[in-house]
Amino acid sequence: FKKMDIDFKKYVANVQDFPEPGVLFRDISPLMADGKAYAAATDKIVEYAKSRGAEMIAGPEARGFIVGCPVAYNMGIGFAPARKKGKLPRETVSVSYDLEYGQASLYMQKDAIKPGQKVLVVDDLMATGGTLAATIKLIEKLGGIVVGTAFLIELTDLHGRDKIKGYDMFTLMQY
Ligand code: PRP
Ligand code: MG
Repeated sequence: FKKMDIDFKKYVANVQDFPEPGVLFRDISPLMADGKAYAAATDKIVEYAKSRGAEMIAGPEARGFIVGCPVAYNMGIGFAPARKKGKLPRETVSVSYDLEYGQASLYMQKDAIKPGQKVLVVDDLMATGGTLAATIKLIEKLGGIVVGTAFLIELTDLHGRDKIKGYDMFTLMQY
């Protein structure tokens, strides 16, 4: 189909008071539900990934897979998943990070990234930047070189960018 300019924000559902009162949830499922919009968003990230010389895409469970895997497929390169606790069967490296309440951790299998490999980190959304910072740390523990980061949505009020200074960033939409 013909590529066209798309107003991506038309494909984000804004849900008030989810998952708790006072939070405005940016739901990307309408974007995923529309084949043309999903492909157009993927194309934008592919273009960026090529400009950064990415050799591998990495993304955190679960929504990072939805955004990252079609990018990897389009480019004919691999995808390295960062997963939550207890999901990966072989030897892993892990990073713990703070959530608003409590702690979380992410894991990657030791052979997910080759030393020196140029990796682009992809996720659906950056809020506090905690998930992104943890994913970057995992890749670097494995000797990978993070050549850029890409998101569909950046929530600018939370200043996630401040957590990841020194890394190039591409965002399709900002709120
Ligand atoms: C959401 C979102 C990002 C992260 C952003 O994931 O998909 O990964 O939060 O927040 P941060 O910048 O403050 O870290 P979530 O952990 O809710 O899980 P999911 O992707 O499995 O739905
Ligand atoms: Mg996520």
